[in-house]
Amino acid sequence: MTAMLFSPYKVKGVTIKNRITMSPMCMYSAENEDGKVHDWHYTHYISRAVGQVGLIMLEATTVTKQGQISPKDLGIWSDDHVTGLKKLVDGIKVHGAKTAIQLGHAGRKAIYDGEIIAPSPVPFDREMKVPKEMTDISIRETIKAFKDGASRAKEAGFDIIEIHGAHGYLISQFLSPLSNKRTDSYGGTKENRFRFLQEVLEAVGEEWDGPIFVRISADEYSPEGNQMEDFVYYAKEMKKLGVQLIDCSTGGIIRTPIQVYPGYQLTHAETIKREADIDTGAVGMITSGLQAEEILQNNRADLIFVARELLRDPYWARTAAKELGEDIEPPVQYDRSW
Ligand code: FNR
Repeated sequence: MTAMLFSPYKVKGVTIKNRITMSPMCMYSAENEDGKVHDWHYTHYISRAVGQVGLIMLEATTVTKQGQISPKDLGIWSDDHVTGLKKLVDGIKVHGAKTAIQLGHAGRKAIYDGEIIAPSPVPFDREMKVPKEMTDISIRETIKAFKDGASRAKEAGFDIIEIHGAHGYLISQFLSPLSNKRTDSYGGTKENRFRFLQEVLEAVGEEWDGPIFVRISADEYSPEGNQMEDFVYYAKEMKKLGVQLIDCSTGGIIRTPIQVYPGYQLTHAETIKREADIDTGAVGMITSGLQAEEILQNNRADLIFVARELLRDPYWARTAAKELGEDIEPPVQYDRSW
């Protein structure tokens, strides 16, 4: 029997050869703080494609310089970024993997040498700058930056876009009552707090007709934050807006310790999948083939996002295949009976 981990996943015209996704991970390696792809990125991402990961998702790539999580993140805020991204996409695809890019904006968590922006002038913590409350104009400009990012991602040839709505970055700041204190139509009720993400999705949809995933922090670890019923509501709304998959992470909106253990975020992926009737991605200490197979076979999620284990073992897909008794294709260069 074929393991489900090695069965294809079809999403809006894109077929990923297995259920293994390289989870987005900032590499802090763009030289000269220009947001452009450099040598490290080719080696790092393409080696995971050689290792038979089905979907390679690039790290949080910022839609404005002002929205960078850190100064050496990848960026997509200008047309000059497209050449490097396209070369990277082509390099990954040669090895049979599909490609995704995570579009983000750090909002109040940006490390930027200048003014930073957020839904409300509330700093993340005492060490971070007080952000400027976004005006209607900066809301419009930022939504346009996501739209332009999507258009450039299309030009670069990506198969999938993931919108970064997690970890206390800008979209997550709008969604959460812990960081969104606005009294206009972008704050207050959950319907209003969702509006910014809704408008981002609508704008992205004007440029992009491929699959869209959204990463959320489905647990804010605070009784005053969004609760699961809020996330189920957001997921249902996102489904109506044409989102194909919710990638379920947690945390980052406030500084608080998180207890981690194998599959620590899995119940969120499972609940959202069931309650909102939408595909989900599971992430968080998923490190073995058997663990991934259990999640898929029990219908708890549709894609398995692997982060740190893929740093430790770039060929984790092969490790998992061996564990599950699967015979997966090696790259043609290795396909010899040595
Ligand atoms: C991350 N993570 C992350 N998440 C995200 O949505 N965008 C990002 O750019 C990053 N950057 C990043 C860098 C590094 C070095 C690490 C280790 C992690 C979070 C990551 O995608 C994943 O959700 C967590 O690491 C949990 O999964 P694992 O590592 O337990 O498989």
